[in-house]
Amino acid sequence: MIRFEDVGVTHPERSRPTLCEIDLSIPEGELVLVTGPTGAGKSTLLGTINGHVPRFTGGTLTGQVTVHGRDTAANPTRAMADLVGVVSQDPAAGFVTDVVEDELAYGMEQLGVAPGVMRQRVEETLDLLGIAHLRRRTVATLSGGEQQRVAIGAVLTAHPRVLVLDEPTSALDPTASEEVLAAITRLVHDLGMTVMVAEHRLERVVQYADMVIDLDRCGAATAGPPRTVLSASGVGPPVVMLGRLAGWEPVPLSIREARRHAPVLRARLPRSPGDGSAAATGPVLLTARGVTVTHGSTVAVRSLDLDIASGEVVAVMGRNGSGKTSLLWALQGSGRRSRGSVAVDR
Ligand SMILES: Nc1ncnc2c1ncn2[C@@H]1O[C@H](COP(=O)(O)OP(=O)(O)O)[C@@H](O)[C@H]1O
Ligand SMILES: [Mg+2]
Repeated sequence: MIRFEDVGVTHPERSRPTLCEIDLSIPEGELVLVTGPTGAGKSTLLGTINGHVPRFTGGTLTGQVTVHGRDTAANPTRAMADLVGVVSQDPAAGFVTDVVEDELAYGMEQLGVAPGVMRQRVEETLDLLGIAHLRRRTVATLSGGEQQRVAIGAVLTAHPRVLVLDEPTSALDPTASEEVLAAITRLVHDLGMTVMVAEHRLERVVQYADMVIDLDRCGAATAGPPRTVLSASGVGPPVVMLGRLAGWEPVPLSIREARRHAPVLRARLPRSPGDGSAAATGPVLLTARGVTVTHGSTVAVRSLDLDIASGEVVAVMGRNGSGKTSLLWALQGSGRRSRGSVAVDR
């Protein structure tokens, strides 16, 4: 479905290429995961699939990228829209209408799809992504996970053969990420779509992926079945790292697979010090009492009491919008604090 033939990309004002000698064939209906460190060229590689790179980014592309036989360099990105759907990291930035239903229809209007077909596709897409109950909602009031599913829906209604997602969960909390990734794997399994996704939450997708493309800092790609590529590469979800360290063969891709090996390892290991019984470290350094942060009528942090000891590591967890950032800045001092006190012992 997608062919990269000796593809190289050099961005403007760069002396070295970001991608070089990429030779890959991606069969129809595969879920392909693109991995590699930040700056390795994941976004660049994905951008070549609809010709966004280099058309809008500048720079030069050597070699050839074809999707379903269509050369992306020879076709304007617009002309690729019925073939390749692209979803970005920040769904809200791409919305062009206010209401979910209108957002789903917008892309089809641009492609000149007949009204009857359009209505039917909107219905199908709402059901497919589990967002039918959101149809009349304003996109701005949706959660991050819902927005991202609407963004995916908006490109799906054009019935592309290929879906490209660049870190679609990077702004989402774990629950929302799960919803989005589950929707993506469903598209591959139920509709046979070809999906290429750059995703840093590898543990959520790697077990469903057919192929991993790992980019290194020099812009070269190693591609193959997930188990093979991740066994050899420096990246991988924690479960793969653990499997590599423990010498498990084959390397597990899911917690379920790892469990089979775990009893042997557990017997070998001394009791872990981090089991929660360890007494707090040093004396209390930070004392917060009744910390409350409000933004207009929204209460972001409500009457929080907290003692943090010297040397202690505290994880702040919560869904998107639950008040983590407000809390951190209120404790640090430069953020808004409506009530309460924070004292730091020096
Ligand atoms: N439009 C651009 N102009 C110049 N350099 C760019 C551009 N886009 C990306 N780069 C450079 O190309 C390299 C790869 O970037 P990118 O594809 O965004 O990597 P990743 O998505 O893996 O983090 C980086 O060094 C980045 O600075
Ligand atoms: Mg990127």
